[in-house]
Amino acid sequence: MVNICCIGAGYVGGPSCAVIAYKCHDVKVTIVDLNQARIDAWNSSELPIYEPGLDEIVFARRGKNLFFSTDVDQAIIDADLIFVSVNTPTKKTGMGAGMAADLAYIERATRRIAQVATTPKIVIEKSTVPCRTAQSMRTILEANSNKNIRFDILSNPEFLAEGTAINDLTNPDRVLIGCLQTPEGFAAQQKLVDIYTRWIPKERVITMNLWSSELSKLAANALLAQRISSINALSAICEATGADVDEVAYACGTDSRIGPKFLKASVGFGGSCFQKDILNLVYLSEQLHLPEVAAYWKSVVTMNEYQKMRFTHRIVRTLFNTVTNKRIAMLGFAFKKDTGDTRESAAITLCSYLIQEHARIALYDPKVSAKQIKMDLTEPGVGTNEEEVDKHVQICQSAYEACAGADALVICTEWDEFKMNQLDYQKIFDSMQKPAFIFDGRLILDAAKLREIGFRVETIGKSA
Ligand code: NAD
Ligand code: UGA
Repeated sequence: MVNICCIGAGYVGGPSCAVIAYKCHDVKVTIVDLNQARIDAWNSSELPIYEPGLDEIVFARRGKNLFFSTDVDQAIIDADLIFVSVNTPTKKTGMGAGMAADLAYIERATRRIAQVATTPKIVIEKSTVPCRTAQSMRTILEANSNKNIRFDILSNPEFLAEGTAINDLTNPDRVLIGCLQTPEGFAAQQKLVDIYTRWIPKERVITMNLWSSELSKLAANALLAQRISSINALSAICEATGADVDEVAYACGTDSRIGPKFLKASVGFGGSCFQKDILNLVYLSEQLHLPEVAAYWKSVVTMNEYQKMRFTHRIVRTLFNTVTNKRIAMLGFAFKKDTGDTRESAAITLCSYLIQEHARIALYDPKVSAKQIKMDLTEPGVGTNEEEVDKHVQICQSAYEACAGADALVICTEWDEFKMNQLDYQKIFDSMQKPAFIFDGRLILDAAKLREIGFRVETIGKSA
């Protein structure tokens, strides 16, 4: 029986290795983490992350060939293949602060592998890491382990998107596996290819050299985020000219060279990775003395910040230049629909800005807890403290509760339940102050129908 250990039971380690267990019943998968509460949740009926389809997969295999544990050492000792799937956040202090990836978690996990391993291991970078991290991992492994133990390092970056993770994992566009171009490297690579090809067609499992694989992950996220910043930049031109950003996206996206996906204008991209990975690329470019390249990628993040500010300014301007004491219903706090994840969500920036303008925010999100919202809004750097949040933010249990008595409704996340056929917008209109404003930051509403009801509607990428 092949024995797999995954270090890091987060949004990536949990789902990706649970799917391996689900697809390969003869492979034993142990997912470990230092965070006891997280592991307890993985072992309970309420999993620590919300992801459509994940419960079924975990409940089907847990206790059979899928295990969750805090015993990191034992899982390392038993494993043939070890996925390193720990967090790689942006560094907050020191050299490269605000840009470089903090590799402390990767290093700690790697050192642990070196210290406790007693048999050969294939160590797989699953986390998103700067180009050439595998080299540092090799140095750590070789310097800290028994000289007779062989380690092979592979790069196998993850491309899943939250909210669609299970489909992305069971039916991926591609799986990438990078290795050193040596006979041992190829042999290790083949072992991982053999796992994935149990359910993924061979031609979609792409093999290449380690450094290309590491860089491809950063490149893919940078290109995706760049498309969003491009359409968002165009949305500003649309608002000023009377062009409609959905029509422009459609017109451009039907060109097969451009393609239709990832051209939805929005209040700004969020999520734990786009910004972090682009900044990582910016830092890499600077280190390589490529300032023009660094500036090019940096502009993708700059445009995203601009889009968030532009939207909030539009809200304040439209509400007669003041939101002081006005009730603003914010629908959605997660960074996208179908996830409870709020990391880098545009809603955080919006809330913080509106709190500083002394608005009263009535917030509803179907999957984000009140505790999480308060934690996000009081994080250092967000610009609002606990007292302000308590005073200005009310967490509601439904969209209707949030909208009752509101001066304006703001769509921050594109949850299906906020769409026209799901909510009774006439009822919402009747319960709001007049004039009743709607700001659609996700292009999910039918502005013409809302205007018929009596709403004043402002939509991203469309003039009022
Ligand atoms: P996460 O914070 O949800 O999970 C990481 C986990 O690793 C945490 O639970 C933490 O306690 C654990 N951990 C840290 N150090 C450890 C150690 N030494 N031993 C054991 N456990 C340890 O992060 P995530 O969202 O799963 O992201 C993980 C990596 O995958 C990041 O590099 C990220 O860029 C990348 N990635 C994320 C996504 C996504 O959608 N979230 C998609 C693709 C790639
Ligand atoms: C993204 C990538 O899509 C994944 O391939 C990658 O593995 C992952 O980052 C990662 O490395 O973490 P994710 O952040 O989960 O996945 O979600 P996306 O669907 O990419 O959305 C990111 C943000 O962009 C969201 O805020 C979303 O609302 C926004 N977005 C997306 C737009 O504003 N417009 C679009 O057209 C698409």
